[in-house]
Amino acid sequence: MSRVYNFAAGPAAMPESVLKQAAAELVEFPGAGMSVMEMSHRGKKYIEIFENSRAAFNEAMGIPEGYTTLFLQGGATGQFAAVPLNLIDGESYVTAAYANTGNFASAAIKEARTFYSVRVVADSGKDGYTYIPEVTGVLPTDAYLHITTNNTVYGTRYDRLPESPAPLVADMSSNILSEVYDVTKFGVIYAGAQKNIGPAGLTVVIVRNDLLGRPNKHCLKILNWTEQAKADSMLNTPPTFAIYLAGLCAKWVLAQGGVSALEQVNVAKANLLYDVIDCGAFYTNPVKKEYRSRMNVIFKTPSEELDAAFVKEAEKAGLSGLKGYRTVGGMRASIYNAMPFEGANALADFMKAFEARNK
Ligand SMILES: Cc1ncc(COP(=O)(O)O)c(C=O)c1O
Repeated sequence: MSRVYNFAAGPAAMPESVLKQAAAELVEFPGAGMSVMEMSHRGKKYIEIFENSRAAFNEAMGIPEGYTTLFLQGGATGQFAAVPLNLIDGESYVTAAYANTGNFASAAIKEARTFYSVRVVADSGKDGYTYIPEVTGVLPTDAYLHITTNNTVYGTRYDRLPESPAPLVADMSSNILSEVYDVTKFGVIYAGAQKNIGPAGLTVVIVRNDLLGRPNKHCLKILNWTEQAKADSMLNTPPTFAIYLAGLCAKWVLAQGGVSALEQVNVAKANLLYDVIDCGAFYTNPVKKEYRSRMNVIFKTPSEELDAAFVKEAEKAGLSGLKGYRTVGGMRASIYNAMPFEGANALADFMKAFEARNK
């Protein structure tokens, strides 16, 4: 079987050249006499790999001076707990503000409420999360404002960042490295790796240095960014192979011309699909146009039966992973960086042909 176009939401498609390089280096990493997986994380060879990966990632992201990049574990879900534990110190800061724009934002709010009474300052839940709500009422006394820059399940994206007197903390899991962000606008950015950074198992946290050093007394060591920064992300054994692959992916991003070049391709890919959705009455997408995601395009046909047929026939045509999230239904095409333009084009052609056969 040849490789399919993989539209899964995450774990997701990886650049083919990265997989091939990893395969070539799998059994024996050049000059090491062993696989990256077999190396001690404290050894000279692995430290070199780790530092190269972090340098490539930082270059691709445009991380300025004054920020620390941590390579951790526990997923974005782990950071739902770590963010309040590291930033609401219980002395100078006792609360934080959250924008509720979907299931993952809700999960972050719920986790923060384990210890603290955080405030929801924007919420589109009553309208099925079909838009990004206006954020109002953030206070300078809030420890931070938490947003989800791209909502993977509901197919929405902030078209501009909200103004906030408190540091902006972003769950960027599903659109990191896909569009240019000015990192200086953020206090903290975090992301599970399994969409645009690399394989699952690695979690990246980017922290402005002045936000280190104020963990709450409840903050467990493993979640503590200050401790992790002191230990250079190696408080315990890091996900060594995932970090190596993330480095290959970051180098791939740079070789494509960087995030700004990929952003243009990503906009073109998304437009291909939204154009098919908008050009007739067959497909629907519930999201207000200005908030449409460029990474996760959700759509439905006129019936659940046709949705099921679409997913099945697409799979046969080599277009995999299109079934929508269980609570939303329909289809979801995740078109992260590693999805080539040709893949989005093949899906757009399939959508047109399916419509012609079924309308
Ligand atoms: C925006 C967003 N946040 C959080 C998560 C949860 O990530 P993890 O599985 O790494 O905990 C996901 C996963 O799909 C996501 O898309």
